[in-house]
Amino acid sequence: MRLDKRLSAVAEFVGHGAKLVDVGTDHGKLPIYLMPTGKVSFAVASDKNEGPLFFARENINRAGLEKKISVRLANGLNSVQPGEVDTVVVAGMGGALIKEILASSPLVLESVESLILQPMNEGAALRRWLYENDFYIENEILVKEDGRIYEIVLAKSGTRKMPKEIELLLGPVILKHKTELLKERITELKNKEEKKLLGMERSAKAKNSEEYALTENKLKGLEELEW
Ligand SMILES: C[S@@+](CC[C@H](N)C(=O)[O-])C[C@H]1O[C@@H](n2cnc3c(N)ncnc32)[C@H](O)[C@@H]1O
Repeated sequence: MRLDKRLSAVAEFVGHGAKLVDVGTDHGKLPIYLMPTGKVSFAVASDKNEGPLFFARENINRAGLEKKISVRLANGLNSVQPGEVDTVVVAGMGGALIKEILASSPLVLESVESLILQPMNEGAALRRWLYENDFYIENEILVKEDGRIYEIVLAKSGTRKMPKEIELLLGPVILKHKTELLKERITELKNKEEKKLLGMERSAKAKNSEEYALTENKLKGLEELEW
């Protein structure tokens, strides 16, 4: 099984000997790739929809991994029992949905050491949730594929100080490495916030709103970044 750049980066963050659940596995690519590498000792491929899971099952059977990867139909982390896994992967979903999936299963999270998350948006709110719920970011990376920049976050269980707003927005670890891709992401974000401000400036009510002030602040934070 060959993985694209985004899922390869997710796979890189999996620890050796991990007992993993891939929530929203779709066609099961990640566990099918990981199992033969010997990196994971146990894997659950779960999805809330039977359609994708049908293909996951087919792919897993074709790879001869049906005894090694448990395929489960379930919403979020309801697919596993507390203590069954130490690593949770949730990739390719919106940040709000990832947050909801994590928040809905506190007992499972209590026994989890690593979360590998790849939000399609709202990364800042997801990072804030992690720190508010006794996880911290140990590593994270930006990956560009087909013209789109993705954030991949490795969070570990443990309490740490809440990062600053700009760190929540761009990623505390990502910000430490001044890469070209980060530069590109900052430009993208600045353009997005400028556009949003321009839109809001058309209405006096929107211009006086809290949202306008927040967006202005976000843009200021991005412009003040030292390179
Ligand atoms: C865009 S795909 C991402 C697939 C894969 N994780 C990846 O990153 O390439 C999203 C998958 O998540 C599943 N999904 C969405 N909400 C879910 C939930 N609450 N619990 C489990 N699976 C969910 C969908 O059925 C779909 O297969």
